Amino acid sequence: MTDEASLVPNAPRPVPRVLALANQKGGVGKTTTAINLGTALAAIGETVLIVDLDPQGNASTGLGIDRRSRRVSTYDVLTGDVSLRQAILETAVPRLHIAPSTMDLSGLELELAGERDRAYRLRDAIRALNAPSSDRNRNEIDYTYVLIDCPPSLNLITVNAMAASNAILVPLQCEFFALEGLSQLLKTVEQVRSTLNPQLSIHGIVLTMFDARNNLSTQVVEDVRQFMGEKVYETIIPRNVRVSEAPSYGKPVLLYDLKCVGSQAYLRLASEIIQRERALRAA
Ligand SMILES: Nc1ncnc2c1ncn2[C@@H]1O[C@H](COP(=O)(O)OP(=O)(O)OP(=O)(O)O)[C@@H](O)[C@H]1O
Ligand SMILES: [Mg+2]
Repeated sequence: MTDEASLVPNAPRPVPRVLALANQKGGVGKTTTAINLGTALAAIGETVLIVDLDPQGNASTGLGIDRRSRRVSTYDVLTGDVSLRQAILETAVPRLHIAPSTMDLSGLELELAGERDRAYRLRDAIRALNAPSSDRNRNEIDYTYVLIDCPPSLNLITVNAMAASNAILVPLQCEFFALEGLSQLLKTVEQVRSTLNPQLSIHGIVLTMFDARNNLSTQVVEDVRQFMGEKVYETIIPRNVRVSEAPSYGKPVLLYDLKCVGSQAYLRLASEIIQRERALRAA
């Protein structure tokens, strides 16, 4: 993505779209979606940075980043010790990079207590990615998308993600309690919008782990569409064993088995998201 114009000292840099994968419910597909949507967007030509904001570090592991390589992590970025650029690692997927996380992140809330800018640490770090610089390293690429993988909680880390984002993408698992907790999440988004980040919106709801053999899954899809209307993406991610196997090989499912229904669904989701983005820009 380094073109000649962007090498001019102090030239403005393209600003990425920042999307956070958030749902305080655990195990709904946030990390799986961050990894595979990121890969699918990169496969169709976008330049993508995944920011792993979960102390569990599943996005980092799922992209094959072993713990020894995480000498610099998102924890160091949020404490202000390093820049986001310094934490970024390449992955096996061309145009897909990651800022990995470690368990250190779980202590962040206490460490930042009392800091006035504590909710804006990530926003400022992402802004600095694009700051014009005269000594710009030719290898630094400009990202078109930043995807933030949030932990299953509405804590300071998730608030940092919301304050840094243009929009939220909410994975919902097709199971009985799918809608439980959604109103709490929407309330938090509303609070962040009215205080920290007036431009924040809900990009969309992605239904995950759909099982066509299970009537309940179909019922959940109907309920969620009724409740959330057009916010729900057309694309539904099916439950697919290949999707759950891929992380143990440190690979996105698109590299592990491109032809499986899970990979194909994530490719469709990526094009749907790009279409929505175009519609937003045209509006
Ligand atoms: N489409 C799918 N088909 C089959 N298994 C899936 C699918 N999506 C996710 N899984 C599996 O479900 C589990 C939870 O997924 P994931 O880790 O992405 O959720 P999460 O919301 O990030 O969880 P946490 O809240 O703990 O961070 C994982 O074992 C994952 O492999
Ligand atoms: Mg996760």
